[in-house]
Amino acid sequence: MARIELAKNSGFCFGVKRAMDITEEAAEQFAGTKQVYTCGPLIHNRNVTDGLREKGVEIIDELSQASEQDVVIIRSHGEGQAFYEQAEQIGFQLIDATCPFVKKIHKLVKEAADRGEAVVIVGDQEHPEVRGINGWCRNKAFIINSLEEADKLEPGNYFVVAQTTIQQSHFEAILSRLAEKGCGLDLHNTICSATRDRQESCKKLAEKVDAMLIIGDRSSSNSQKLYDLSKKHCEKVYFIENIADLPLKDIELCNKIGVAAGASTPERLIKEVIANMSEFLTENNEENLMHGLMDE
Ligand code: F3S
Repeated sequence: MARIELAKNSGFCFGVKRAMDITEEAAEQFAGTKQVYTCGPLIHNRNVTDGLREKGVEIIDELSQASEQDVVIIRSHGEGQAFYEQAEQIGFQLIDATCPFVKKIHKLVKEAADRGEAVVIVGDQEHPEVRGINGWCRNKAFIINSLEEADKLEPGNYFVVAQTTIQQSHFEAILSRLAEKGCGLDLHNTICSATRDRQESCKKLAEKVDAMLIIGDRSSSNSQKLYDLSKKHCEKVYFIENIADLPLKDIELCNKIGVAAGASTPERLIKEVIANMSEFLTENNEENLMHGLMDE
């Protein structure tokens, strides 16, 4: 019978859980009195955002879509300084669910920018967290996410931070390249330990199983990173969003199956996937056993 093992630290991280709790409390508190919005999806998981919509929490893309009477929640990724200024002008109630670790980066880069230092953010310029961080240093940060981009940076002194969810090895490779170019680096490793722990547990598990399942939403960058990392250490790796994606036929002959989930994957979904898989593998195992007995 196949063994299923869940990677340690799978599922919601501290910051996402906190943002979820804050949003659910707000939905309850303002039910029937005020419209509650999040600016962008609270987390990158459709199952979760659909559930929140049922509780009355809608998603808007622009702050201008909210009016004075509404409540707007800032998600765990955080927002730039201009967002807070615009919110104040419109005058709605703002609830800040920015992860405290991301808030700390905002403070660091703002202080550096106020001192006139040049800021480098190692991360994905399209990611809302990175856009938010950049918004605290007057949108003047150099955003670097590859060695090629590092090569293009002018030699000089830089105050460096990282997107919280990038891989340590990726960060180190870019730092080495900048150091080789003779850049002076005031280094702040802001990679979140929740991400590091999750990636480390995922890697350890991927090394010892026959197949790895990563549960997460396709738009979740940290789930995608777990997938990429697993591919380096395991031959069969599957990305699944829900039980409908379970590659049951492909994994039925595997002895050890690992499961890991991104920081935006709810526990309910992880349990559902594992329960479905166990049920299938047990039934299949019994069926194979029956065939074996009948063949004898
Ligand atoms: Fe915060 Fe780390 Fe999660 S920065 S949102 S606890 S991955």
